[in-house]
Amino acid sequence: MAFLSDTLARVKPSPTIAVTTKAAELKAAGRDVIALGAGEPDFDTPQNIKDAAKRAIDAGRTKYTAVDGIPELKKAICAKFLAENGLSYAPNQITVGTGGKQILYNALMATCNPGDEVIIPAPYWVSYPDMVLLAGGTPVPVVATLENDFKITAAQLEAAITPKTKWFIFNSPSNPTGAGYSAAELRALTDVLMRHPQVWVMSDDMYEHLVFDDFTFVTPAQIEPGLYDRTLTCNGVSKAYAMTGWRIGYAAGPVALIKAMGTIQSQSTSNPCSVSQYAALEALTGPQDFLTENKALFQRRRDLVVAMLNQCPGITCPNPEGAFYVYPDISGCIGKTSAGGAVIANDEAFATALLQETGVAVVFGAAFGLSPNFRVSYATSDEALRQACLRIRAFCEGLQ
Ligand SMILES: Cc1ncc(COP(=O)(O)O)c(C=O)c1O
Repeated sequence: MAFLSDTLARVKPSPTIAVTTKAAELKAAGRDVIALGAGEPDFDTPQNIKDAAKRAIDAGRTKYTAVDGIPELKKAICAKFLAENGLSYAPNQITVGTGGKQILYNALMATCNPGDEVIIPAPYWVSYPDMVLLAGGTPVPVVATLENDFKITAAQLEAAITPKTKWFIFNSPSNPTGAGYSAAELRALTDVLMRHPQVWVMSDDMYEHLVFDDFTFVTPAQIEPGLYDRTLTCNGVSKAYAMTGWRIGYAAGPVALIKAMGTIQSQSTSNPCSVSQYAALEALTGPQDFLTENKALFQRRRDLVVAMLNQCPGITCPNPEGAFYVYPDISGCIGKTSAGGAVIANDEAFATALLQETGVAVVFGAAFGLSPNFRVSYATSDEALRQACLRIRAFCEGLQ
């Protein structure tokens, strides 16, 4: 009898975590490493949020809570959805979990049966296909190209839908490309979804607050109220409020789905950390100036990185609408040999040689379902970004 389960064989460890670990190892060995792999803000959680957590500890809010969230936080989440997205939900339509990741996982575990297909636009966040596989479903990637600014078209979505399609996972702004769908672009997709009533929509709005220039964030149930009864709108405090370690994510959707997700959570982790829930409550109800400051900071960094990467021979870097990632195309580098003698056969070879020869850690595109590319997380200091881009440029100039 095999010790490890068949389920385990279906999934692979997160490549973004692998890159972060490799970069940390090289750093510990004394190498000068600039890590552009991790998807988290480089600054601290705002003080008012940390203070709220301290008060929660002192007040003894350290016991089990209701499985899928304290009532105060659910109420605050309802208010957030109404004020920011024009979506009206009752507290029994809200679930709170241990990060956005657990929310998505609960939803897939609660709904996927063998043979169920889940449409995932690629490039995708690395965890979507593996979570679908863990839940017993079949991921169906639909590739968005550089030519279409990394966004899928209505025709592509229409062609991917079958009678077995259970979910369409939508993520805007996107990890890893930063691409954000405008209201008109999203409307084209929701029109398709309205013609296929068996398809549910999982909207991952994690980067809602990180949008630049005059881009306006929109979410499917807001654009098309006809989808309200089959949409799970997911969000969290991790990225917007620099709270990745606190592990709080949430979602709103139809009562039966929310209840089912709570059942999965009740037999796995129970409630998300009690103290973190009070911190998230402060994040959602306290001062919001932090969001505006953040946005300006990230926009400046995006501008810096896009401009510098476009000066690298062989690289084309589009200018994304949001999040804190860029996803440059490196077609012009493939087939060449680096100054250190590495053959750049694909984007994984590019990322490996780049790390070895320059100390810059990025995640290769194959991990996200579109090659040849790599992902840069620009959630780090301007100086580190400038240095990293100079090193990437020197590396590209050295390719023969
Ligand atoms: C698109 C997307 N969704 C969800 C998550 C998960 O966020 P959390 O840290 O709250 O689990 C991430 C984190 O990288 C993400 O990029």
